[in-house]
Amino acid sequence: MADARILVVDDDDFFRLIIAERLGGLGYDVGQAGSLAQARALVAEAPPDVALLDVRLPDGDGTELLAELVRDTDAACVMITAHGTVESAVAALKLGAADYLEKPFSLERLEATLASALERTALRREVRALRERFGRAGGMVGASAPMQEVFALIERVAPADSTTVLITGETGTGKGMIARLLHQLSPRAAGPFVNVTCSALSETLMESELFGHEKGAFTDAHTQKRGLVELADRGTLFLDEIGELTPRLQGKLLGFIEDKVFRRLGGTRDLRVDARVLAATNRELAVEVEAGRFRADLFYRLQVVPIRIPPLRERPADIPALTKTFIEEFNREFGKRIRGITPEALARLAQHRWPGNVRELRNVIERSVLLAEDHVLTLEMLPPELRDAGRRPTAVLDLGPEGVDLQALERSLLLEALRRTGGNRTAAGALLGLSRHQIRNRLRKFALES
Ligand SMILES: Nc1ncnc2c1ncn2[C@@H]1O[C@H](COP(=O)(O)OP(=O)(O)OP(=O)(O)O)[C@@H](O)[C@H]1O
Ligand SMILES: [Mg+2]
Repeated sequence: MADARILVVDDDDFFRLIIAERLGGLGYDVGQAGSLAQARALVAEAPPDVALLDVRLPDGDGTELLAELVRDTDAACVMITAHGTVESAVAALKLGAADYLEKPFSLERLEATLASALERTALRREVRALRERFGRAGGMVGASAPMQEVFALIERVAPADSTTVLITGETGTGKGMIARLLHQLSPRAAGPFVNVTCSALSETLMESELFGHEKGAFTDAHTQKRGLVELADRGTLFLDEIGELTPRLQGKLLGFIEDKVFRRLGGTRDLRVDARVLAATNRELAVEVEAGRFRADLFYRLQVVPIRIPPLRERPADIPALTKTFIEEFNREFGKRIRGITPEALARLAQHRWPGNVRELRNVIERSVLLAEDHVLTLEMLPPELRDAGRRPTAVLDLGPEGVDLQALERSLLLEALRRTGGNRTAAGALLGLSRHQIRNRLRKFALES
């Protein structure tokens, strides 16, 4: 790593100087600190790539700083321990230290340790960049636990180049986006992404769309035509609403997935195409199989890796970030300058059941941004069906034979309300019929805040 930043934290001035001089001579950018306080100030200025940390410092323990660096930065930490304190070194490794050096050590040993620590930092950065690319890939928002699970699955499946994936989820949950993401993160990213919406309109037309036709294959087939399957060669074929395919086409598709060959409508030649198949549906395909409307063999073939996208009401923690994203999007589109949303309005969004999922939320924000005259979205700007719903049920449970732990219940409802509103206390209060002040008191009561 060219001009890597090294931070040396040790209260022994002489030791520090020697190390700094040697590392400076090697072209590193070296910072020095004799105490925790000094070190923290330097870290705040610019986080190091590697930190050499003495365990015993005048104002505290080097492992404190170790924990902070592990938590907040990509820095690799090397602990410096006095002879015979290997135990504290082992403890430091458990806390996330990259390595340790036992005094006295040679400068050669220092350089070797440093080189491998720098490698580790570079690797950590790479992994994080990759993870960030996921979080934002294609503009997808999804910090909630259920969406993180979906992303983790995608991370594992995307590189498996020829695995078929079935994406399920209610309308508007983002199935189309996930399919695109899978393509972008696959080795086929440079190839075509072909999106086909299956429909039961006319079997012949659908077949010719998908597989193409030879001249004269049917009345209107005046010329030869290549199908979408062919256009997806070396890329991804995304079959949206796969539940709509007729049984015969389901059969033909299965043949294609298994053997990678097919024939154009009216054709006699086998054509070979290398395409990864992704499919999506908002129907319960298992039920369709049960009812005899969907071929079981195709279902199992598609189901190799199922990805279920949870409905928005199961991940309200995503609502604040989605709202922010959409406000920014429509600000750009309509040349507006909306800065945000009031806590009351956000609370209302967190309460809604969202049958149309993310698409419905996006539409609500689009409309509100368009109509907004102020610089902030308020309850009044939400569509009537949202504005007028805000009644809270007052009796959600009965006491039951064993009674309830009211404190535990209160605590968990409080946390859930905060989670749903992205930690906005006023909005969380609106969900619970409490003021911001009362929320704060309860946070203290449950020792969630001092
Ligand atoms: N996690 C997300 N982050 C940002 N935008 C999203 C997210 N999920 C969905 N959207 C947006 O919501 C809308 C609906 O998404 P998409 O069309 O992918 O859903 P779908 O599940 O394919 O819906 P349908 O079943 O109706 O085809 C799109 O405008 C999409 O950009
Ligand atoms: Mg879709």
